[in-house]
Amino acid sequence: MDFEHKLADTLAILQRIAAEHSPAVFANSYGAEDMVLTDLIARHGIGIALFSLDTGRLPAETYDLMAKVRTSYPQAQVVTFFPSAASVERYVNDKGINAFYESVDLRKECCRIRKLEPLSRALAGKKAWVTGLRREQSPTRSDMTVQEWDASNGLEKFNPLLEWIEKEVWAYIKANGVPYNALHDQFYPSIGCAPCTRSVAMGEDVRAGRWWWENPDLKECGLHSAGVSAISPLPR
Ligand code: ADX
Ligand code: SF4
Repeated sequence: MDFEHKLADTLAILQRIAAEHSPAVFANSYGAEDMVLTDLIARHGIGIALFSLDTGRLPAETYDLMAKVRTSYPQAQVVTFFPSAASVERYVNDKGINAFYESVDLRKECCRIRKLEPLSRALAGKKAWVTGLRREQSPTRSDMTVQEWDASNGLEKFNPLLEWIEKEVWAYIKANGVPYNALHDQFYPSIGCAPCTRSVAMGEDVRAGRWWWENPDLKECGLHSAGVSAISPLPR
C-alpha cells in the first residue's frame, strides 16, 4: 500500500475510534510515532483525549518535548499521570534507586509501579485506547493487529500505525514540521526512561537500546505484552 493510502487509512481508523468507541484515549510517550498521532489527532480535531505516563525517570529531552507540545498543540492537551508516591517511596527505600538493573523481577516491579498502575488509572472508564506501536519494532509486536481486545485492562486497544515503517514516520514528521524528541538525532530510535534507554550503534535493532542488559525476549515493560487477544481488524 502506498504511503498516501496508508495515511488516509490511519486517519479513517482514528475517526472511527472517536465515533464508535468513545470515550477513547491515546497513550502518548512522546516518541516519534506518538508525535505523528498527536499531530493527526490535533490537526484533524479528532475526539480522542491524550495522556502520558510520567514515570519520574524520563530523559530531560522528553520533558523539553512535553513543554513544546503544550505550546504547539494547545488544542490537544496531554493529561499526565504519575505513579503512586507511596509505592515509589517503598520501592526506592526497600530496593534502591536503581534496583531495576539487579534482576528482571525488580525491573518489572519498577515498571509495574511507574507505568502499569498509572496506566490502569488512565484507562479507567474508557472504551478504547490507542498506541503508537509498529509491527517492525520488535518480534514481540509481529503478531499484533490494528484492533485487539486488551483483557488486562478490559477495553479495546488500537494500533493505527501498526503497518507504518520507520521511513514513513519520519517522512510525516518532516513534511508536517512535527516537533520531536532531540534524542532521536543522537541515535536513540526508541526512548523510554533515562536509566533504561541507551543509544544504538549503526545496524543495531531499533529497540536494542531499551533494557539493553536483558534478554531480548523479556524486553517489554508490560504495557503491551500481557492479556491482549487479537480480533479481526476494523471493517473498511
Ligand atoms: S514500551 O512498552 O517499550 O515502553 P514503547 O516505548 O515502544 O513501549 O511505546 C509503545 C507505545 O506504548 C507508545 O506508542 C505509546 O502509545 C505507549 N507508551 C509507552 N510509554 C508510554 C508513556 N510513558 N506514556 C504513555 N504511553 C506510553
Ligand atoms: Fe523503572 Fe526502567 Fe521501567 Fe522506567 S523503564 S519504570 S526506570 S524499570
